Amino acid sequence: MKVIRTISQMQALSLAARKTGKSIGFVPTMGALHSGHLHLVERALAENDIVVCSIFVNPIQFTNPGDLEKYPRTFGKDSVLLEAIGCDVVFYPDVAEMYPEPVTHTYDFGMLEKVMEGLYRAGHFNGVAIVVKKLFDIVLPHKAYFGEKDYQQLAVIQSLVKLESMDIEIIPCPIVREPDGLAMSSRNARLTPEQRKAAPFIFETLVKAAQLYKSRSVELVIDTVCESIAANPDMELEYFEISDTETLAPIRGEKPHRPVVACIAVYMGQVRLIDNMIFNL
Ligand code: PAJ
Repeated sequence: MKVIRTISQMQALSLAARKTGKSIGFVPTMGALHSGHLHLVERALAENDIVVCSIFVNPIQFTNPGDLEKYPRTFGKDSVLLEAIGCDVVFYPDVAEMYPEPVTHTYDFGMLEKVMEGLYRAGHFNGVAIVVKKLFDIVLPHKAYFGEKDYQQLAVIQSLVKLESMDIEIIPCPIVREPDGLAMSSRNARLTPEQRKAAPFIFETLVKAAQLYKSRSVELVIDTVCESIAANPDMELEYFEISDTETLAPIRGEKPHRPVVACIAVYMGQVRLIDNMIFNL
């Protein structure tokens, strides 16, 4: 497995691969890899000739300096995991390589960035879009793999690719969960043992809400989830929203016949966890 630290070397490798007709699959990450990330890499390995995984903790997408500082950085362990599953290339640039100049560009994703994560983390998706556009220009992939764990991020990336007319296929991949239902996240490592024990309550609440949604109103489902998280002493709800799966516009009143997506963000102490689930009638 090659570890590449400069943009020019990464581009040269990708251009050479493309010249010989090889397909390139790409998995962007911020490292601290877990099975969720590794599933994306395995899927990419099954569908492409060459797989590149990037590891870059992107400072401009963090809206809380403490969160950026505490973000786990475990490159040694990550590269062992990637090598073991057969990843071909790790692109591991530093901040100066990615941002030699201050970033000024602002994207407009409309509704997609005005709800949920966009509302509570202003500027977050602009930072994500800027780094993903740069990474796409550097890695030159045919296909790029993103987890449904970050449902809104996936919608923003799909919009970015259209906005920038990029010829890259975005492949959504299902959420990978711990055996107790907790969605895998690099942030789970920051939970205390007690918080970790309590954390699957988020998934359990979504499962119950999905059931309730079949027979009750959207408003009642939202109230029930808000009350049940509020009653949990380990958790503080940031938002729970039921939205259109494509526009992410909040749904109220009459329930649509198509599936909807329910998204939740919860604080456990300083650690912010997100999860989501598709609800069907
Ligand atoms: P990161 O949080 O490291 O996630 C990298 C990719 O792994 C994302 O596409 C994310 O949705 C996916 N992922 C994380 N946990 C998952 C899980 N439990 N199941 C399935 N997929 C999961 O998302 C980012 O990094 C950054 O915002 C990035 C896109 C790299 C831009 O900086």
